[in-house]
Amino acid sequence: MKVTVIGAGNVGATAAECIARKDMVDEVVLIDIVEGLPQGKALDMAESAPIHLFDTRVTGTNDYADTAGSDICVITAGLARKPGMSRDDLLGKNASIVKSVTEQFAKHSPNAIIIVVSNPLDVMTYVAYMASGFPSNRVMGMAGVLDTARYRSFIAAEMGVSVRDIQALLMGGHGDTMVPLPRFTTIGGIPLPELMDAEKINAIVERTKFGGGEIVKLMGTSAWYAPGAAAAEMVEAIVKDSGRVLPCAVWLNGEFGQKGIFVGAPTKLGRNGVEEVVKIDLTAAELKLMEASSEDVRNNLAALARIQSA
Ligand code: LAC
Repeated sequence: MKVTVIGAGNVGATAAECIARKDMVDEVVLIDIVEGLPQGKALDMAESAPIHLFDTRVTGTNDYADTAGSDICVITAGLARKPGMSRDDLLGKNASIVKSVTEQFAKHSPNAIIIVVSNPLDVMTYVAYMASGFPSNRVMGMAGVLDTARYRSFIAAEMGVSVRDIQALLMGGHGDTMVPLPRFTTIGGIPLPELMDAEKINAIVERTKFGGGEIVKLMGTSAWYAPGAAAAEMVEAIVKDSGRVLPCAVWLNGEFGQKGIFVGAPTKLGRNGVEEVVKIDLTAAELKLMEASSEDVRNNLAALARIQSA
């Protein structure tokens, strides 16, 4: 199998490295418009193979012809947030970048599955869907895996338990209105609300919503270790056809009251990409949060349409 990672910045390079280190595909191709950058990072990674012990070939290029025949593509191209910027400030610029790279990629790999990482995530996933012309099961966005990883890491630290035993679901858009769901969060199978008081849960939920911004504030640019690892975990679920159930930005067609947008929902991943959107009954309060978060995504889509028609 062949995986292309578009964008050799911090997130793209980390995703490529995480994918290579899983030693599960034949080849990872890192592509970027900056000459030398993807080649240099790919060579550096390839030289780490005898130490990390992987046989995946890692190459870098500026030419989409080298991505031909990819099975999976991770799109990280675009500008990252600077302090004081929201993900939405990136809208116009990143939409034209994501559109252009998707078109070039899709031409050479018409049967691939696309995982979008560029921000604002839910809208960029929509842009890639339109630009690729792929069916909706072959286009998805990475957000929920990252956001639940942050949420689970905070819970593990607070409780002094292993991250391994924490499972969680988070829905909605990858923005400040994302919807962590404590009712669907368990520690060793025990629902979180049985083990943690509401005030503490609420503090962790709030920290999670602003988890990306917390890192931007600390170091002046946006995160890459957890985002890269999260994208690689989705790639692994597809490569291994494992049927893992992960929160992904997926095309909804009436599920959870949402239609015609990409937004975060529990998703079964496999060789066909999105194998299933897992349906669950949300409470009225949860549905309201899902609606508000989806409304943010719709507003962003409308803002993008205004930018594009201007
Ligand atoms: C974050 C960026 C990748 O959440 O959206 O860190």
